[in-house]
Amino acid sequence: MKVDLTGKTALVTGASRGIGEAIARRLGETGAKVLCAARTLDAVQRVAAEIGEKGVAVQLDITAPDVRDRIKALLDEHTNIDILVNNAGVTEDDLFIRMKPEQWDRVLRTNLDSAFHITQEVAKKMIRARWGRIINITSVVGLSGNPGQVNYASSKAGIIGFTKALALEIGSRNVTVNAIAPGFIQTSMTEAMTDDAKKKLEEKIAAKRLGTPDDIAWAAVFLASEEAGYVTGTVLNVSGGLYT
Ligand SMILES: NC(=O)c1ccc[n+]([C@@H]2O[C@H](COP(=O)([O-])OP(=O)(O)OC[C@H]3O[C@@H](n4cnc5c(N)ncnc54)[C@H](OP(=O)(O)O)[C@@H]3O)[C@@H](O)[C@H]2O)c1
Repeated sequence: MKVDLTGKTALVTGASRGIGEAIARRLGETGAKVLCAARTLDAVQRVAAEIGEKGVAVQLDITAPDVRDRIKALLDEHTNIDILVNNAGVTEDDLFIRMKPEQWDRVLRTNLDSAFHITQEVAKKMIRARWGRIINITSVVGLSGNPGQVNYASSKAGIIGFTKALALEIGSRNVTVNAIAPGFIQTSMTEAMTDDAKKKLEEKIAAKRLGTPDDIAWAAVFLASEEAGYVTGTVLNVSGGLYT
């Protein structure tokens, strides 16, 4: 299957590195225009430039109070956003007993609230256009739980509920809503792990390796494709069998 998204516009949040960068690059290869968004301007400029003439750098803090206005402006400037990838996310791990309200707030605001604000603006236009693909990056931790990550697991479980409920609401408008649940992927989010911890983890993964950002990007390209139009409300587990 060769995915052709020529004529479509995608917005990928957290496209400055890691999984979001890989998704932006792979979507760029399908012919889509790709709006690469993150806070670090020079990083999104680099990614957009490497995508080529269809890459657009967007400096965007998804937790900013004016995020809805920024999305409205992008929708006006680029006519529409046909593919939305809610990828940007953060961790602030701590044992629950020690977790500060600010750690809870920052993670929930970035990982869950932002998806509500951004998706609501984008979905209105997708519904009108009768075509859309919304892809939310959750985590297997949202399904399994993980000690030290009560805030993160809550945000990722929230994204799964968000995905399923919204899919039911707007499925009849030819707008699909799906989530991808990565396992452990080699990015800056996981690079702090010691070699020993990585080795122990690899033993628990059926594929016996950590995932790559491209492992997730291919799943996103599939869900964005015309051919995936009958797939909605699902959580695609891309964890090498870490959690089944
Ligand atoms: N790596 C894993 O093992 C793993 C596993 C499961 C799920 N995930 C999920 O996959 C997604 C991507 O993770 P990753 O591993 O690629 O992480 P990463 O390397 O730390 O990248 C995170 C991205 O999010 C952006 N970001 C963070 N806060 C932002 C904000 N307020 N506004 C806009 N952009 C923001 C960062 O860009 P700036 O700093 O430039 O803003 C960066 O591009 C996250 O949702 C994460 O929870 C990752």
